[in-house]
Amino acid sequence: MAPIGVFDSGYGGLTVLKELVRELPEYDYLYLGDNARAPYGSRSYETVYEYTLECVKWLFGQGCPLVILACNTASAKALRTIQQKDLPNMAPDNRVLGVIRPTAEMIGTTSITGHIGVLGTQGTVQSGSYEIEISHFFPATKVHTHACPMWVPVIENGEYNGPGADYFVKKDLDALLKSEPQIDSILLACTHYPLLLEKIKKYIPEGTRVISQGKVVADSLALYLKRHPEMELRLSKNRQRHFFTSDSALEFERQANLFFGEQVRAQHADVG
Ligand code: DGL
Repeated sequence: MAPIGVFDSGYGGLTVLKELVRELPEYDYLYLGDNARAPYGSRSYETVYEYTLECVKWLFGQGCPLVILACNTASAKALRTIQQKDLPNMAPDNRVLGVIRPTAEMIGTTSITGHIGVLGTQGTVQSGSYEIEISHFFPATKVHTHACPMWVPVIENGEYNGPGADYFVKKDLDALLKSEPQIDSILLACTHYPLLLEKIKKYIPEGTRVISQGKVVADSLALYLKRHPEMELRLSKNRQRHFFTSDSALEFERQANLFFGEQVRAQHADVG
């Protein structure tokens, strides 16, 4: 087995995995959620890096030659160091990819006004990664970021459908749109946020586009595998999906359905 490893701090990466499986069903996938230590959103660089590296090592240990960090916070705070410093010594033939670059490559095409709103965790927003990456591909596009520190806790605690979610979604969208009323495209730069899509749509002007990352990442991976046959040939293709969590497997099985759209069997992983 040489599955594609998909990692997130918790459940959010399942929204990405869902699209990967839809677009590239022939491959094997191994999902790891570091639920025991989620959320990562307001943790320091050092901590996010340390946790992410442990999870990547664990996925490599399970035989994954390719790992997708389906987490913006980890992509913003740990990906570059892992790619540049750790990978060459640890596993020079393996690859770790993130979600920020593929999103930045396309996001400029979604706005007519040239003003894009980017919603993410504190860590993602403070890193400035989206402004930097988008400016490479769309230098004229204005990027307006806003951190939503309560959204992931609300989602991870199963409150995504309740009135508490309405309160925080409205508050943060109001703040974003007040900062620049010309925003006509909003990127959900956190893989948990698609769970709030229905609520988000309630609080934005009609015609505003909302972009989730799952499909974007799946399209980008399909292209990557075409361009890198040496990696594509190493991946096993038995259509198997395995789910691991650093916390309770039972709890993961209860929640995963919401994000992945189908019931899953999960196992506990000792990553730390
Ligand atoms: N889903 C993750 C992201 O995309 C992070 C959530 C968190 O752990 O705070 O940023």
